[in-house]
Amino acid sequence: MTRYRYYTATSLDGFLADENNSLNWLFEQDSGEQATPGPSLVDYDTFSATVGALVMGATTYRSILDELKEGDPGMPFSLPWFVFTHQTLAAPAGDITFLQGHPSEHRSRIETVADGRDVWMVGGGGLAADFAEAGMLNDILLTFAPVTLGAGKPLFPRRFNLQLRDQGRSGPFLTAIYDVVGARRDQAVRSCGTTPSDRDGAGTAMATGPQQTCAPGTTGRVVPSSRRYPRWDGPTSEGPADQRLYRDQRATSVCRDDRI
Ligand SMILES: NC(=O)c1ccc[n+]([C@@H]2O[C@H](COP(=O)([O-])OP(=O)(O)OC[C@H]3O[C@@H](n4cnc5c(N)ncnc54)[C@H](OP(=O)(O)O)[C@@H]3O)[C@@H](O)[C@H]2O)c1
Repeated sequence: MTRYRYYTATSLDGFLADENNSLNWLFEQDSGEQATPGPSLVDYDTFSATVGALVMGATTYRSILDELKEGDPGMPFSLPWFVFTHQTLAAPAGDITFLQGHPSEHRSRIETVADGRDVWMVGGGGLAADFAEAGMLNDILLTFAPVTLGAGKPLFPRRFNLQLRDQGRSGPFLTAIYDVVGARRDQAVRSCGTTPSDRDGAGTAMATGPQQTCAPGTTGRVVPSSRRYPRWDGPTSEGPADQRLYRDQRATSVCRDDRI
């Protein structure tokens, strides 16, 4: 039976890529360092031998194409790829199908093509989470790089319970396999957008940024909050850093899932 498997590397703080979609933080790791005897828990050759189709989002697809332009054969083009996108994207080689919409609409097509083998959910995290919510994600195979990024493209931006199945080490990387248990009930209300808050210390809400819309079946509401946070202004030529409190007036839009 086809398993859907999210196989990826991540920073320790849960990012697939930095804000500029860069993976330099990953490629700069020395995988030969402190080599661990035996195959890795998430050994690529062992994993990919069971795969019959790949699924990914548009940004990941574009990133792979960019890598390939630089001469790295990278991903297995001999397998069918399913790329979720709203755009018209180039398909330079191989068996590539562009899809859009809810994962469950495409389940039978993906599984027919995978022909009993596994589906590699390549990423990104939002698409992996969409698949998980559709009941189309069995497990998550992770390689944790010894680096934190602070921001970037999230590994899995939803609330799910997971169960640790196995763990290990591969050189400088921590490795782990988690079974996907199910969505947490507190996912019923999830953040779907914020307006940027005033950060100049005056306490006045100034700017409004792009407001995301709520998914079908959800209703949006605005939950204002007003807190005081320490502000770090950093060292200046006039003297030491200025750390003071500023007022953050934030309007957070959350979407309530009407189906739950
Ligand atoms: N560390 C690793 O090993 C690893 C693994 C995988 C990915 N990555 C990196 O992580 C980053 C992930 O980028 P990302 O978070 O933006 O995720 P992504 O899933 O690669 O791309 C998201 C885009 O896919 C399209 N999309 C997603 N769901 C869709 C749907 N249901 N229907 C139609 N289109 C859909 C949308 O683009 P459009 O609407 O514009 O088409 C969406 O903006 C990339 O930089 C990638 O290279 C790293």
